[in-house]
Amino acid sequence: MSPKSANAVTDRYDTEASFYDYLYDRTEDLPFYTELARSAKGPVLELACGTGRLAIPVARTGVDVTGLDMNKQMLTVFRRKLRRESLATKKHVHLVEGDMRHFQLERKFAFAFIAISSFLHNLTIEDEESCVRNVFEHLRPNGIFIVEVFNPDLSRSGRVVRLDKVIRHGDTTILRFPSQEMDTRKQIIDANLIYDFVQKSGAVRRKVVSFQLRYVFKDELVSLLEGAGFRVDAVYGNLDMVPFQTESPLIICVARKPT
Ligand SMILES: C[S@@+](CC[C@H](N)C(=O)[O-])C[C@H]1O[C@@H](n2cnc3c(N)ncnc32)[C@H](O)[C@@H]1O
Repeated sequence: MSPKSANAVTDRYDTEASFYDYLYDRTEDLPFYTELARSAKGPVLELACGTGRLAIPVARTGVDVTGLDMNKQMLTVFRRKLRRESLATKKHVHLVEGDMRHFQLERKFAFAFIAISSFLHNLTIEDEESCVRNVFEHLRPNGIFIVEVFNPDLSRSGRVVRLDKVIRHGDTTILRFPSQEMDTRKQIIDANLIYDFVQKSGAVRRKVVSFQLRYVFKDELVSLLEGAGFRVDAVYGNLDMVPFQTESPLIICVARKPT
């Protein structure tokens, strides 16, 4: 990731941190991750944990979870949310400010995961390899790593701006207009998110955040994981664990570190 794109991703999440949980208020992935974390019977690592949308519910089930993220604002929101949790849940959470490509932790984990396409913040093959290698080194033998990304839809390559979210945040109404362009040769999505913050008075402040994602294909992701030493047990196409098909919305790789 070049310094410029690292700044871009920081700018995006600095902007979104305070209202991230309203933007991404989805819960459909909670049972999938909490169940896998519980059945791992050991400590769990969530890469790019953000505001703890998933890590906190995992900790509530009594599982020890380490959340790693490089954005200070997102981690501040995580810590603020954690204050409202029970002592038992708090004890199960460990937060690390760090980069998924270059982290070094003292612990080895039974289960690691990276959800909601956050893996695509790795913008080069070297970054992807470094991230996957790092996770491999931090897993116990037989440990599981789940990578969940969207299945790229190359028909959505044109730039179209549309309103996709309206949320209320205090006295402000926030409108989001995403647009994106795909470079199908480099597998890079150039994305813009236009945010309009509308005050009660009608005054509007606009903020545009631009960032990139590197999308990956199913076979590519499997090769990447195998290249780092993982055995890929399954590839699902959605959170109901239906096997991956070309038209699936998601690519969910279940990779195991051999014993
Ligand atoms: C879409 S959010 C996902 C947050 C959370 N996992 C969830 O499910 O809601 C993506 C997160 O990735 C983090 N991130 C991006 N690049 C990163 C990197 N290289 N290392 C660690 N975290 C990173 C961002 O700071 C942000 O919090």
